[in-house]
Formats: sequence, C-alpha cells, structure tokens
Amino acid sequence: MSPSAADRLSRLIRDIPDFPQPGVVFKDITPLLASPGGFAEAVNGMVEISPDDIDVVVGMEARGFIFGAPVALALGAGFVPVRKPGKLPGDTLAQSYDLEYGAETLTIHADAIADGARVLVVDDVLATGGTVGATAGLLKQLGAELVAVTVLMELTFLSGRDYLTAQGIDTVNALLRFGSS
Ligand code: PRP
Ligand code: MG
Repeated sequence: MSPSAADRLSRLIRDIPDFPQPGVVFKDITPLLASPGGFAEAVNGMVEISPDDIDVVVGMEARGFIFGAPVALALGAGFVPVRKPGKLPGDTLAQSYDLEYGAETLTIHADAIADGARVLVVDDVLATGGTVGATAGLLKQLGAELVAVTVLMELTFLSGRDYLTAQGIDTVNALLRFGSS
C-alpha cells in the first residue's frame, strides 16, 4: 500500500484516550468502517498482503468477523468463526489465554476445518498477540495449517509479533503499524 493510502486509512482510525481504562489509548476503527472508500481500501489492502492460496479464513469474534468475511470472499476461501464461549452450537474445542487481569477463552467447532486445510487468520488488531496465539492453538488442535496472519493494524509497542514468533508463527502481515500509544 502506498504511503498516501496508509495515511488516508490512519486518519480514519481515531484515538480515544482512557478507554477501556485510564492510561489506554483505544484505536477506534468505526470511522474507517463507516467510510465506504476507507472500508474498501482497508479490505483490499489486507487481501493484497495475504497469500492467495488459502482454503479457509478464520476470524475471531467480534472485530475479526468484520474483516475476515470480506477477505475470505475476495480470496475465494470459506470463513470459519472463532467465538467466545457459549456461542457455538456444535461440539467445540477451547483454548484459553492470559489477559493482564484474568483469562479469556476462545472456541471453534471441532469439525470446522478439514485436516491439512490452508488457513489464514484475520483480525483487526494485533496487540499482545493473545487472541491470535489462542486461535493458533485451536488450529493446532484441529490439525489445520496456519499459513499466515493478516491484521489491519499492529500496535508494535505491545510486542505481539515477538510473542507469536516465539510460538513459531512467523508470517504476520499488518497493513498499518502504530509505534506508540
Ligand atoms: C481486541 C481486538 C483483537 C484483540 C487484540 O479484541 O479486536 O481481537 O483485542 O489484542 P491482543 O493481541 O492483545 O489479543 P477484543 O476481544 O478486545 O474485542 P472484540 O470482541 O471487539 O473483538
Ligand atoms: Mg477482537
């Protein structure tokens, strides 16, 4: 993506200070989503930086759904949701991960992905990497091949990329990078 396009997209993401807690600057994507040109440019850019030989896109509730579904359509891939507990009706696998305070669990249908399927994980933000890491754990339980991760933006100061590299996840594509809060 050209620097001017990246700049256009960045200007559609607004900083909300002290949300969800004091000291945190939240990157709010709702202005980008509400902009027809901006949303299309973001999705097209995420498709461009992703591999094209993908069978399934996995998106994580909730914001991963917003980008995962259109990226899947553009790649000619299926879409599989990773959801928070209690939402999927069939047999599920679960993976927990630590948050700053407490823990979170993500789930996936146990029969969602065929053995050996080539999977792209899509989310809006890579922060600490906990969400992507737990999703990778689910895919490992399923025997699926995690080919790459694509996110709209990476918050580099939270070192999610290093966290994922330590788990053997090397291919992380970020359309935008923000280096400080
Ligand atoms: C947010 C965001 C990413 C995740 C990134 O999800 O959408 O999924 O945090 O943070 P991490 O790299 O530290 O895991 P969250 O579950 O907060 O909210 P959502 O349901 O709106 O997607
Ligand atoms: Mg999320």
